[in-house]
Amino acid sequence: MTASPASNPTYGALTSHGNSTNIVWHHSTVTREARAHQHGHRSAILWFTGLSGAGKSTLANAVNSALFEQGMACYVLDGDNIRHGLCNDLGFSDADREENIRRIGEVAKLFVDAGVVVLTAFVSPFRSDRDKVRALVPEGDFIEIFCDAGLEVCEQRDTKGLYARARAGEIKDFTGISSPYEVPESPELRVETGTGSLEDCVSAVLGLLEARGIIPQAG
Ligand code: ADX
Repeated sequence: MTASPASNPTYGALTSHGNSTNIVWHHSTVTREARAHQHGHRSAILWFTGLSGAGKSTLANAVNSALFEQGMACYVLDGDNIRHGLCNDLGFSDADREENIRRIGEVAKLFVDAGVVVLTAFVSPFRSDRDKVRALVPEGDFIEIFCDAGLEVCEQRDTKGLYARARAGEIKDFTGISSPYEVPESPELRVETGTGSLEDCVSAVLGLLEARGIIPQAG
């Protein structure tokens, strides 16, 4: 008998098994609804995307701190950190970036099932890769947040010195310089991380989460 994940609210459809055969979905006895009830909020993926240096990690961590202080279950998955472990076999070719985002998408989906608000901070330059993650979870659970800081601002910040090295030809396939960034066409939220204050950007994200009923109204 083959168990289908169809009745699991996170796993809406049977996902591809890739090379794994003879595997059967095992349903958890603790449902996502039960977790949401216990936590006092829904889970979701907050997908921060934008150029390197746009402020994705800074904003994701600031939102994470605000949620944590309110007692919520939340966690940040950060590009640079994940590439030290889970994705340390991947580089920055288009194919490697696709695989990077695929893995993070699957991990983020597990967090959603665990009842956690998961915040991801990856350049994720390709629309198709972001859309594949969106399709992994039920509608409304993937919230794309475009950290809109222009290349000029990011390059001027150059907090890690990578833009200078990319301009000097020392780093190939660098997003914005020698590799494309596909701007989100209809993100759930666009925040001006180049010109706006961090405080305003955090408020915008929290406001959206409240408006969508993911977290309770403040106050
Ligand atoms: S992604 O394109 O696959 O989503 P990811 O977010 O994991 O990228 O990693 C991006 C981070 O790796 C950047 O913030 C930067 O610090 C570093 N980096 C190193 N090489 C590159 C490169 N060629 N392009 C973009 N970022 C790079």
